[in-house]
Amino acid sequence: MEKKFKRTLITTALPYANGPVHIGHLAGVYVPADIYARYLRMRGEDVVMVGGSDEHGVPITIKAREEGVTPQDIVDRYHKIIKDAMAELGISFDVYSRTTSDIHRKTASDFFKKLYDEGKFEQQTSLQPYDAQAGEFLADRYVMGTCPHCGSDRAYGDQCEACGSSLNATDLIDPHSRLTSAPVTMRETSHWYLPLNKWEDALRKWILEGHKEWKTNVYGQCKSWLDLGLQPRAVSRDLNWGVPVPVEGAEGKVLYVWFDAPIGYISNTKEILPDSWARYWKDPESRIINFIGKDNIVFHCIVFPAMLMAYGDGYQLPDNVPANEFLNLEGDKISTSRNWAVWLHEYLRDFPGKQDVLRYVLTANAPETKDNDFTWADFQARNNNELVAILGNFVNRAVVLTQKYFEGKVRRVAADRRAADG
Ligand code: MF3
Ligand code: ZN
Repeated sequence: MEKKFKRTLITTALPYANGPVHIGHLAGVYVPADIYARYLRMRGEDVVMVGGSDEHGVPITIKAREEGVTPQDIVDRYHKIIKDAMAELGISFDVYSRTTSDIHRKTASDFFKKLYDEGKFEQQTSLQPYDAQAGEFLADRYVMGTCPHCGSDRAYGDQCEACGSSLNATDLIDPHSRLTSAPVTMRETSHWYLPLNKWEDALRKWILEGHKEWKTNVYGQCKSWLDLGLQPRAVSRDLNWGVPVPVEGAEGKVLYVWFDAPIGYISNTKEILPDSWARYWKDPESRIINFIGKDNIVFHCIVFPAMLMAYGDGYQLPDNVPANEFLNLEGDKISTSRNWAVWLHEYLRDFPGKQDVLRYVLTANAPETKDNDFTWADFQARNNNELVAILGNFVNRAVVLTQKYFEGKVRRVAADRRAADG
């Protein structure tokens, strides 16, 4: 039998504020979450839907550097574009906040501090790419060199965009820094790691035995991660943009973006419900649903739950983590860096008043079980054939016949029957 819950917290993956949102974000996360939230509200259920911008991480610092502005300038710009466009599309967030807010920085910092004080982390040293000229450690994206697979001289320390292979910074031939062009050296640094291996049994039980009802793509990805065996994962970085690691001797280190961002769900709930937020997170009669894209599965099903288990204090794990597959555009992968996307704020400008057409097309063609393709021909056909011809005609006939045979009144019987079935 289905368990009855008193209230539902719906979270939506926090989009990176290094660019606007596109139809892939909408089809994967925001439109389905919004439909579900509206459905629950119509049934009179207690539901809170939280969202916000993910404003830390390396891509934001890279974009800022390219434009000669600060990371804060970048996130201020895109947070506003994203927030306004989502509101105009009608995504009914109860809160849409951001991870540079004071409340989030404090919540994330305190979260780390408690785990640190309780000895839940392991400290480990490793060799990281270093730019001696700038005196800075380099994230993989900041390292550039020649791809060992295809010979392109524009490969990054995490990936070669020319041939698509994923790389480590140490794989590159002649690695140099994108900051100064200086050759990259390796230097020892120390970080805090969350020992996921210690939570493996609990995760296995919780997901593989307890949540066989999850979508097959989500369950399957969790199973293959768990079957490979979990390793400790670094939760800090040498970077000057993020939530500072709240520990003495950690100057120049910030929380890893994937450590702080999911805590944003908690901070955002706190922001609108300063007195009652914990009911949504800690009461076993509440349930949490995380709407995400498929590239976020491991973070929401393995890493964040392990953080919550390590933290304890009554935090509930999500009841479900619906992840959609990807939406392509005209047969090609949507890409922010290649500017191949239908941007929401541009759609709203070019098709004023047509929010529901986009919502309909993205729902009819949702990438629920496999990647799907958005094409403008399909958009046009669905608008003309399905919305105008079929739905429009149906509504028109219903209204005309109601006028003709029932004096324009809807008879009570339908409403009464509904109440009786209630
Ligand atoms: N910014 C991430 C992405 O777009 C999603 C973060 S979800 C959160 O892939 F849980 F970390 F907030
Ligand atoms: Zn290559």
